[in-house]
Amino acid sequence: MEPLVAPELDTYLLDLAAQQHSDAVLEEMEARAREQNFPIVGRAVGRFLEVHARSISARRVMELGSGYGYSAYWFARAVGEVGSVVCTDSDAGNARDAERYLTGAALWERVRYRVGDALAGLAAEDGEFDVVYCDVDKVGYPDCWRAASDRIRMGGLYLCDNVLWSGRVAQTADQSDSTEAIREHNRLVAADRRYISSIAPLRDGVMVALRIS
Ligand SMILES: C[S@@+](CC[C@H](N)C(=O)[O-])C[C@H]1O[C@@H](n2cnc3c(N)ncnc32)[C@H](O)[C@@H]1O
Repeated sequence: MEPLVAPELDTYLLDLAAQQHSDAVLEEMEARAREQNFPIVGRAVGRFLEVHARSISARRVMELGSGYGYSAYWFARAVGEVGSVVCTDSDAGNARDAERYLTGAALWERVRYRVGDALAGLAAEDGEFDVVYCDVDKVGYPDCWRAASDRIRMGGLYLCDNVLWSGRVAQTADQSDSTEAIREHNRLVAADRRYISSIAPLRDGVMVALRIS
């Protein structure tokens, strides 16, 4: 599968994002992702998430699929000292590692980590969110949208990674469960009149949907 973004352009974007601030903890998390082939969003998308959260002055962020806290790092920066990021992941080991990394980055106090199913975690939280970010197993994407879209405040954002799935969404021969689920998810978002949405072809495609009604 061809990468969505040409490798030299991807490297350029990552390098540019890396020049914006340096943090040994972030580098440690990125090194681990390379070593273990763990699918973090990476520096350019991380910065993209932070910019979007800051642009709406987000204070309350819900993450569906947090891994060891890499994307949460960017949201925790965005929400500031009074804000909060609720993380979810089915793997308790990821929660322990997130605590270690984000404590090292002085961001853990802004984070609450729920171990278990992401949608059960969302259902257990009260109220509306400024941002819901989706990055779970891809077959879960349509249900994440259905649940999340009702829980985002007016003017809030739904953000979701991997929505172009290395271009497979546009390859009709690919009818795998994950590809079909992402296609359904993208159709549902596009058809929802409560939101206006756009997909940034950054890395693996990032959905941005703004709630307008
Ligand atoms: C792509 S990784 C998340 C990466 C993270 N957002 C980042 O960029 O650092 C997906 C994570 O979601 C978790 N996961 C997948 N499906 C889930 C579900 N339905 N409920 C809870 N966790 C889930 C996996 O254990 C994995 O750690």
